[in-house]
Parts: sequence; structure tokens; C-alpha cells
Amino acid sequence: MITHDLSLASQYCDKFVVMEKGRVVEQNTRDKFFSESKHPYTQKLLLATPARSESVANLTAELPSYLKLAEPVISSQPLISITGLRKVYGETKKSWLPFKNTENKPFVAVANSNFEIFPGECVGLVGGSGSGKSTTTRMLTRLEDPSEGKIIFDGIDITEISSHSFIRHPLRKEIQMVFQDPTGSLNPRHSVFDLIAEPLLRLGPQINKQDLKVKIEKLAEQVGLPLSLINRLPHQLSGGQKARVGIARAIALQPKLLILDEPTSALDVSVQATVLQLLEKLRRKLGLSYLFVSHDLHVVKMLSQRILVMKEGEIIEQGSTDIVMNTPQHPYTKGLMEAMPIEKEYA
Ligand SMILES: Nc1ncnc2c1ncn2[C@@H]1O[C@H](COP(=O)(O)OP(=O)(O)O)[C@@H](O)[C@H]1O
Ligand SMILES: [Mg+2]
Repeated sequence: MITHDLSLASQYCDKFVVMEKGRVVEQNTRDKFFSESKHPYTQKLLLATPARSESVANLTAELPSYLKLAEPVISSQPLISITGLRKVYGETKKSWLPFKNTENKPFVAVANSNFEIFPGECVGLVGGSGSGKSTTTRMLTRLEDPSEGKIIFDGIDITEISSHSFIRHPLRKEIQMVFQDPTGSLNPRHSVFDLIAEPLLRLGPQINKQDLKVKIEKLAEQVGLPLSLINRLPHQLSGGQKARVGIARAIALQPKLLILDEPTSALDVSVQATVLQLLEKLRRKLGLSYLFVSHDLHVVKMLSQRILVMKEGEIIEQGSTDIVMNTPQHPYTKGLMEAMPIEKEYA
């Protein structure tokens, strides 16, 4: 079994072989692997693997500089509140056909979601594949119309605006999205410069060439992209660098809310660690709110103040991260926690 995911491997494998730069650097049985691994690369992988008692600052050997920044103060008026949100696919208008269409039965992707996100807060949305997480994000970013329910953003009911006209609405720039697949979501023919410039030119105010350049360089710096990469095309970047381009595009218009749909799922654990630290830095520095979506509860809990657990279209559990992690109520949530059996005893 070939993977960068040590927690997954720990569930299925009896023996571990670690490769770095074409060489096998470590080989051991599962038990010894977690307690006795010596090679620096193995240690880096172990450190970067999110485990139960982990904070995002501890995923790398060096402590990140954002720890000097204070935790954002979370205000008491919600930035966005969602009530009775529902999405049914394949719903047909009242049929006048003399037979029932059984092949295309309506499918409830999101049943009845109710939650809020406060300014400065990160809310984690976790659940298995097909539970309705991405459908939820597409409705919040108004890429899709809900079947029912309300989304109040900053006091305005954005469900009243059709997904079609939301594209040109001033609120469009306040809610931005970071996608799971950094390769598929970046135009392969555009340089890093053009990719970051695109949202600014499309939705931002008029800007001259010089100011645009300054702005793009500042954004690149904010997301930790070296300026030497600015003229490269996506295929000339690593996965982590592409993820940073996606984040720079998302923050370019100074949104209030970032929706991150599995932003690190395609990345190696050690790269994931640095991207998670970047997201935490940006939340503290810019006072952003996040909806952080992942199938991995242990990634979600490191960044989130509150957690929503979704199963088959329904939010079956929600609460502060401490309470959900320490006293999960639903058997499904307990199952998600056990999907990560390894503890940081080796740290
Ligand atoms: N456009 C669509 N038409 C029909 N069914 C869809 C559509 N998009 C998603 N679904 C279904 O809705 C369910 C939830 O999907 P999704 O929101 O992508 O889940 P997740 O992101 O949690 O993996 C899945 O069963 C999926 O097949
Ligand atoms: Mg998804």
C-alpha cells in the first residue's frame, strides 16, 4: 500500500518502508515504526501527522511565527447564518407523464442544515465522502441555488439573489473559495502572476499596472510564495505552491469569509502541515472567517473553534471543538475519531 498518510497506513499495514529521494531510509514493524523511528525524514512525517492531542503549531519542528499574533476576538453577531438549508437533486416539476420516473428518483444531498459562522471564527465541517459537504459549500458560495432555506450574509439574504446574478453582485467578493484540487482549479496556461491578478482585475476596483504588480507581490509574500516563482506556470509548481496560489487568489479581494473545501487533501502530510499553519496565520492576521471542510476530523479540529459533523446530508452533531472531541455524542463522530488510532507518544 503506497500512501503519504501514516494514519491510514497504521490501520492496514504490519510493516512500514519509508522512501525519500529514491532511497529507502527506514523499515520497521508498525509498533517499532511509531516508537523507534530514527531517520530525520521519518520524524518529520510523524510530526506532521495530525493526531489527537495536536495543535497546528506543533506539526513542524520550528514553531510558526504567527504564535506572536493574538487569537482573533470572535464577535457575537454572526457573519453568516444558515437556516433550513436543503438541496435535492433530480427533483422534477410536477409530472404530467402517465408513468412514474423511477430511474431518476430525487436525491437529498443536503437535508436541513442550520449553523452560523461568526467573524474571526473557523468552523470545521467534517463527514465522509458523499455526506453533502461540497454541496453545502456550493450553495454558500452561490454557485448553486438551494432547494430550500436561507443564507443570511452580513444581514443580507443572499438566497434571494439567484446564483446566476450573484456572479456580478458586490457581495460576491466577500465570500471566496479555496478548492481541493489545486491543479484542476488553476488555468494551466496562466502564470502565477496572471492567476493572482485575475480576481483583482475581474472583481476589484480599477487598478493601474504598477499598483497591480505591488499588490500581487504583497499577496505572494503573504502566502509564502517566493517572487522567483511569479512567472511560472502551474505545472512548474509543487502541490504546496499551487495550494498557496489558490489561497492568494482567494484572499486577493479581502473577503470576509473563506470556504476551504478539502484544501490539503491532495498534499503530502509535511506540506499539509505548512499550509495549515499558513491558514492559521492568515486568519489571525486578517481576521478572516473560515468554513473548513475536510473528511479528516483530526485536520479539522486543529484549526476550528467549532465543528459540524455531517452524515448523509444531515448535520448530526455540532458544538465547540473541545466538547465534540472530548465528549462526542453520536456513534458516527466516535467512528471518525477512531479513524486515527495513533497518538503522539512518539513525539
Ligand atoms: N449535481 C449533482 N447531481 C446529483 N447528485 C449530486 C450532484 N452533486 C452531488 N450529488 C450527490 O450528492 C451527494 C453529496 O455530494 P457532495 O456534496 O459532493 O459530498 P462530499 O463533498 O461530502 O463528499 C453525493 O451522493 C453526490 O453523488
Ligand atoms: Mg467534497
